[in-house]
Amino acid sequence: MKYKLIPLIDLDKETQLQVLGIRNEEYIREWMFTGDKINAEDHLAWIERLKNDKSQIYLIITNREDQPVGAVNIKNIDKANKIAELGFYKSQKIEEKGLLTKSLSTVIDYSFNSLGLEKIYSEAFEGNTKSLAIHKRLLFTEEGFMRLHKIKEGKRIGVHLFGLLKDEWKTEKEKINIRKDIIMEIKNV
Ligand SMILES: CC(C)(COP(=O)(O)OP(=O)(O)OC[C@H]1O[C@@H](n2cnc3c(N)ncnc32)[C@H](O)[C@@H]1OP(=O)(O)O)[C@@H](O)C(=O)NCCC(=O)NCCS
Repeated sequence: MKYKLIPLIDLDKETQLQVLGIRNEEYIREWMFTGDKINAEDHLAWIERLKNDKSQIYLIITNREDQPVGAVNIKNIDKANKIAELGFYKSQKIEEKGLLTKSLSTVIDYSFNSLGLEKIYSEAFEGNTKSLAIHKRLLFTEEGFMRLHKIKEGKRIGVHLFGLLKDEWKTEKEKINIRKDIIMEIKNV
């Protein structure tokens, strides 16, 4: 199985709009921090702004047919402190098990080895069991839990904070069960 990670800004407009279709899937909106439904005009205008935004690299996972299936965003890139935050999602129509685990491990390798980062961090809503599981699988440490920190569907909800250090990743990553039959290539970054 071959997949690519391609910057969203490098995709054609039709594919960029397909990405919007995934981003607007109900399950994904349920667990994202900005869960509003986004319209095409706002989406394309935001992509225009992304072109000049050095603080993030928004990568789209595409399959062998060049169809988008998910995304991994390296955001809040802070070169001075050598840290960045990860955001990610996968279309609910995709049944490939372990695809996001593989995609994130590729992006983590890239962040540490090519971007020169030394720590990656991430946040997840309380109750997002799939996200908690993927952070655990990828060796993140839970560094905190902010109680009743956000409002989700009118109710206050907690937020888990995760962190992963470059040294931990280097020494432990061989122990993770990452799909070897998924080939992932990062393009144009
Ligand atoms: C978070 C999210 C991306 C996780 O997706 P996912 O499908 O669980 O992740 P993966 O593609 O890595 O697949 C994991 C599954 O494959 C399995 N898997 C992982 N590695 C595997 C491997 N090497 N071989 C076989 N199976 C594997 C896992 O056991 C898991 O199985 P399960 O779903 O039965 O528990 C997805 O739920 C999502 O898009 N959620 C909405 C948005 C969101 O929450 N984003 C994160 C915000 S913090």
